[in-house]
Amino acid sequence: MHSTMFRHTQFPMLVMKDAIADQFRAKYNARPDVDTLHPNVVFDVYIQEDHCVVSLNSSGAPLFQRGYRRSTGEAPLNEVVAAGLIFLSGWDRNSNFIDPFCGSGTLPIEAALMANGIPSNIARKQYAFQHWADYDEALWNKIYDDAPRVPKRNLSFKIIGSDTDGEVILKARENVKALPLGKTVEFEVKDFNDVIAPEGGGTLISNPPYGERLDDYDVGDLYQAIGNFFKRKLPGYTCWIMSSNFDAFKRIELKPSKKLQLYNGSLDCDFRRFDIFQGSLVEHKYGPSNQRREPKRYKKKEE
Ligand SMILES: C[S@@+](CC[C@H](N)C(=O)[O-])C[C@H]1O[C@@H](n2cnc3c(N)ncnc32)[C@H](O)[C@@H]1O
Repeated sequence: MHSTMFRHTQFPMLVMKDAIADQFRAKYNARPDVDTLHPNVVFDVYIQEDHCVVSLNSSGAPLFQRGYRRSTGEAPLNEVVAAGLIFLSGWDRNSNFIDPFCGSGTLPIEAALMANGIPSNIARKQYAFQHWADYDEALWNKIYDDAPRVPKRNLSFKIIGSDTDGEVILKARENVKALPLGKTVEFEVKDFNDVIAPEGGGTLISNPPYGERLDDYDVGDLYQAIGNFFKRKLPGYTCWIMSSNFDAFKRIELKPSKKLQLYNGSLDCDFRRFDIFQGSLVEHKYGPSNQRREPKRYKKKEE
């Protein structure tokens, strides 16, 4: 709502509810019951100054609630944001995909849904339109039953999520069970420094700690270690990082080949691409491998 006419969002909602109730009273001489917690029919009202749009909401709960998420880590990505990042990255759905900071697995799960051609809302059971008077249940069941839901066999590439926190990896595995993804996505408990990326190059997308919500890290050191990890271990990969920590980004010490400005919730973020070149360019830019320093392990600060 953007209007100087109303001070409080509740007021136009009340006007709207009364208008609907009046219609029912005039037509049927009865008032509809309103269940404010679990409404059957949901309306959206958008107000821009004196312009108002009223629409029937066909989804109900927001569409990012895909129905597969049983539990999450502390700072999970919204599923739609994760899918959007994968689209923006240009990943071809046919090559290795890794997220070494995967938390409860949102990015690898969304990538696996795309790679298998499975609709992202396959696990979602409830939509507001199912309560509409003209809802055709048989038609919906046919559409739902016809949707592809068989994972591909023998993918020639890997989709792997890993995280240093064993508990979130359990959650990621739990989330996958709600989806028909078979063995097309794997999860491992691993510090990112120990990740061995599948051969043949591919795409990495991660949102490592920003130092905003998970703020018990020395985030600058972490990003420096991420830069070293890219240089040492990921030649042939296109690496994308989303973060709101612009100072920490600089510590990666690689020039991004693309910078996109995005919001993650209310956080102003960049989504930056780092192209890590094969062999000689890496050697040339960062020195021969026998002169490279071992990565510095950074630790959570002591409690
Ligand atoms: C912002 S969260 C990522 C959330 C994830 N995208 C999701 O949707 O659940 C950052 C993750 O980085 C992980 N992490 C922190 N340090 C790490 C390290 N050294 N190696 C691997 N993972 C690490 C944390 O455990 C946390 O799950």
